[in-house]
Parts: sequence; C-alpha cells; structure tokens
Amino acid sequence: MEPEWLDIGPVDQLPALGARTLPVQGGREIAIFHTANGGIYALANQCPHKAGPLSQGIVHDTTVTCPLHNWRISLVTGEALGEDKGCVPVIPVKVDGGRILISRAAALAGVA
Ligand code: FES
Repeated sequence: MEPEWLDIGPVDQLPALGARTLPVQGGREIAIFHTANGGIYALANQCPHKAGPLSQGIVHDTTVTCPLHNWRISLVTGEALGEDKGCVPVIPVKVDGGRILISRAAALAGVA
C-alpha cells in the first residue's frame, strides 16, 4: 500500500517567506509556503479570484497576497480575507524530521 504522505523535500530548501510549486495530476499545481515563524502551508496554486499564481505572491503572517490583484488569502483556511469572497483548496501538509510531507490523496486528486 502506498504511504499516505508524500515527501516533497527538506524544509531548509524552502526559505522563510518563500514558496515553491509542485505539479499534480490534471495539470494543476500545489503551492507550498514557508512563513516567517516557520509554519509550512499548502494551497492549490490558483487564486479564487482569477486563478492568479499564489506561489508568486507575498507571504505575510499566515496570509499570501495574490500577485495579480492583491486579494489576501489565508494560508490556514484558503479563504479570501476582507471584502473579497472566495476559497481555494487547502492541502494537508506536515513537517516530519525536517522534511515536508503533503497528503498523497490531495496530490493525486489534482486538488479537485
Ligand atoms: S487573480 Fe488573485 S486577486 Fe485576482
């Protein structure tokens, strides 16, 4: 049986306030974020507004600002903040032994 979690690399290759992307099935991408306080979060790499690449946004606390029209998206809930409405799928992620692990099911589902 396949393990439930997919190892996508060491945390220390993802600088604080940085993000990287991971292609998943269906031509989609997951964006993985590293916050200033060391948190790791993963979202579908598509802004709920017009699908802007969130991985290229600016990370601040536990939000990312979309590079296209500056919507702020919560890294925790995937929801747009403030007056904006929309939600992007949150991908289960954890850190174990300095490695970033994401939910295999979410990756294989192509983040529906
Ligand atoms: S596409 Fe992200 S704010 Fe418009």
